[in-house]
Amino acid sequence: MAQEPLRTDYAGELAADRIGDTVRLAGWVAKRRDHGGVVFVDLRDVKGIVQVVIDPTEIPAAHELRMEYCVSLVGEVRPRMEGTENPDMPTGAVEVGVTEITVLSASDPLPFMIDDRADADELIRLEYRYLDFRRAPMAAALRARGAAVHAMRSAMADGGFLEVETPTLIASTPEGARDMLVPSRLRQGEFYALPQSPQLFKQLLMVGGVDRYYQIARCYRDEDFRSDRQLEFTQLDIEGSFWTAADVQSTIETAIAAAVKAVRGLDVSLPFGRLTYSDALDRFGSDKPDLRFGMEIIDVSSVFAVTEFKGFGGALDAGGVVRGINGGSLGLSRGGLDGLVADAQALGAKGLAWLVVEDDGTWRSPIAKFLSEAELDGLLAGFDAKPGDTVLLVADTAKLAGAVLGSLRLQLGRPEGHEELAFTWVTDFPVFDINEDGSLAPAHHPFTQPVSLEDMVERPETAIAQAYDLVLNGSELGSGSVRIHDPEVQAKVFEVLGISDEEAQSRFGWFIRALRYGTPPHAGFAVGVDRLLAILLERESIRDVIPFPKTQRGIDPMTSSPTRVTDVQLRELGVDLRPEVKAKLAKEAAED
Ligand code: AMO
Ligand code: AMP
Repeated sequence: MAQEPLRTDYAGELAADRIGDTVRLAGWVAKRRDHGGVVFVDLRDVKGIVQVVIDPTEIPAAHELRMEYCVSLVGEVRPRMEGTENPDMPTGAVEVGVTEITVLSASDPLPFMIDDRADADELIRLEYRYLDFRRAPMAAALRARGAAVHAMRSAMADGGFLEVETPTLIASTPEGARDMLVPSRLRQGEFYALPQSPQLFKQLLMVGGVDRYYQIARCYRDEDFRSDRQLEFTQLDIEGSFWTAADVQSTIETAIAAAVKAVRGLDVSLPFGRLTYSDALDRFGSDKPDLRFGMEIIDVSSVFAVTEFKGFGGALDAGGVVRGINGGSLGLSRGGLDGLVADAQALGAKGLAWLVVEDDGTWRSPIAKFLSEAELDGLLAGFDAKPGDTVLLVADTAKLAGAVLGSLRLQLGRPEGHEELAFTWVTDFPVFDINEDGSLAPAHHPFTQPVSLEDMVERPETAIAQAYDLVLNGSELGSGSVRIHDPEVQAKVFEVLGISDEEAQSRFGWFIRALRYGTPPHAGFAVGVDRLLAILLERESIRDVIPFPKTQRGIDPMTSSPTRVTDVQLRELGVDLRPEVKAKLAKEAAED
């Protein structure tokens, strides 16, 4: 005899058109009101919630139902009693009169209330992540993530891209972060690195003639945690041969548009705008500008060309700038303005000058008395300042003034949440960043094509790369570049970076060798999928869009990873813990 189906309908889909039908539902007890004579249960399944009504004189077991019991039931869909309809619920017009109910699985008392509004402590939610998934916000995040990834895969496949899996046990490659390492048992003393990204393998796919590659790739970086960083994260990773930067960007735009459509149901306008790195720094004080609001940084150095005010004159004489923002009608008290000055100083500024336009068009400011009439007028014009506006000025090096004003700009103007989406490309990144000690580090990664080889060798500090980022609402979503395909150029980059021939050979000889076999020009990009989802879903942290994330301290509270391993496992790997580590573990064990 064929078994009866465990479910004929989804609870969350029942509506008035099913009134009179007998249905079999299965799900969880989300809420229970036991009035003695009648028991109301909110039954939750993957599609939503429906109210079911049980008569305990018919079904005495109704009194035994508890929160999050997993049940199946048979009942008739009927209209709710007049006055008890709930227009806020998709199923709010109906209820199910239960004739039969079976407890499929009981539940222990819950560690936290499964409530969509009140957030329990994150540690507890991570320890019981499976219960967290029963909350609507997490369930929605899982679904949105799945939908976004599906949409991006479809967009890439439709564009003729081939998904290729690259290995996750590899040799260490230089992407700037610390590698996560895995000891080899068969070759004791040797280690695999987990990939920081598929970078070199995707380039090898281009050498191999794959032409158009993509992958939803897991990447690993042993970095310090932040709200937008995890040890493992996911990229939409792409690469194409015979490609220009514009080809890369339009492909990424298509994939991003598909993800936005899947999550938000709306069409983003394409193409995204473009800003050069140097314009982004000048106008917004950041290489990841939030373009949802104005408050642009304005250079008023020329206003102070012959100033008597030492605070500004000194900075200009030293080759610096006077720059500022018009914060608009901030209406700050003296205390509030002093707070901004302190914030600016904490960011390294020598000072922050504030000027407020009075109703009669004159300036109120502690520095007004030091400035000439022409300078004060120059500021009014330069900032297009209206009565009530507050202008903030920093005199310093261009770099510091930009950093301070960029940060104040965000503090004063950045909208809450991410209802609006402002994408922009930031292009023409430098080839190198300059470390504190004056040494050079690749601004992107060392496989990025400089615009001019001569510039890169002669003037590495200012050389520009064919590298670009995608920025959304002030966050870096992704990075990419045109790659070096000429082994001589690659060797030059290593040389400028101070990586010796020998070191380059021993670390990436295998890669440089591949470039010698007819490598096509190629370019690519990687989007941080976790960051994209966090913004689209307006979540605080990427942890809220990662099914099983680690805490800020790198721990999974559910499985307790990372965990100790047995002496036998260590011996097999040929790994011995350092004495001080052993002592620490022994001490912890004694305390437990
Ligand atoms: P990049 O290192 O800029 O480029 O990384 C690309 C994007 O990946 C995301 N991302 C992270 N997300 C969460 N946690 C992290 N720890 C983390 N690190 C990076 C960011 C970032 O913009 N191979 C190159 C791409 C290329 O050139 O094609 C690369 O990985 O959103
Ligand atoms: P001082 O002459 O140092 O007392 O500074 C007078 C005012 O000018 C104070 O409000 C300072 O915050 C401001 N100020 C001084 N130096 C700078 C600077 N480098 N950039 C902006 N404002 C400054």
